[in-house]
Amino acid sequence: MKNFNIAGGALGILGALMMASALAQDFPAEQIKLGSDTYARHCSPCHGSRMKNPEGAFDLPTFPKDQKSRFLTSVGKGKNSMPPWDGLLKPEEIEALWAYVYTGDNN
Ligand code: HEC
Repeated sequence: MKNFNIAGGALGILGALMMASALAQDFPAEQIKLGSDTYARHCSPCHGSRMKNPEGAFDLPTFPKDQKSRFLTSVGKGKNSMPPWDGLLKPEEIEALWAYVYTGDNN
């Protein structure tokens, strides 16, 4: 949240949203850790290391926090140039990815 004061504008709003949502829902630390590990292995090549600097793929920190079912569908079934993950990842790994994306890369 270092950018909150300096950048203002869009980043400030994004930061505020992330803080508000981090308070809105709690995930167990182990689940976020599993999500973070799964992300690093399977998602970071396209969505950027620790969800930063996605190379043309979706900027995950901006994914709407109230659209979990969209997340599960897009990740499970794939979307346009994103491959489907259903057969590769266990449902609890995809749930953990949601926890990681939802809470942001805070750890
Ligand atoms: C081969 C590159 C690639 C990999 C690997 C990849 N993605 Fe994506 N992802 C994309 C692209 C490209 C899009 C944009 C799809 C579009 O809207 O056209 C996208 C979009 C998304 C979206 C937004 C979908 C929506 O509803 O708009 C989510 C969420 C997402 N990816 C999550 C993940 C997760 C979680 C992983 C790891 C399991 C992952 N992606 C791995 C390329 C990738």
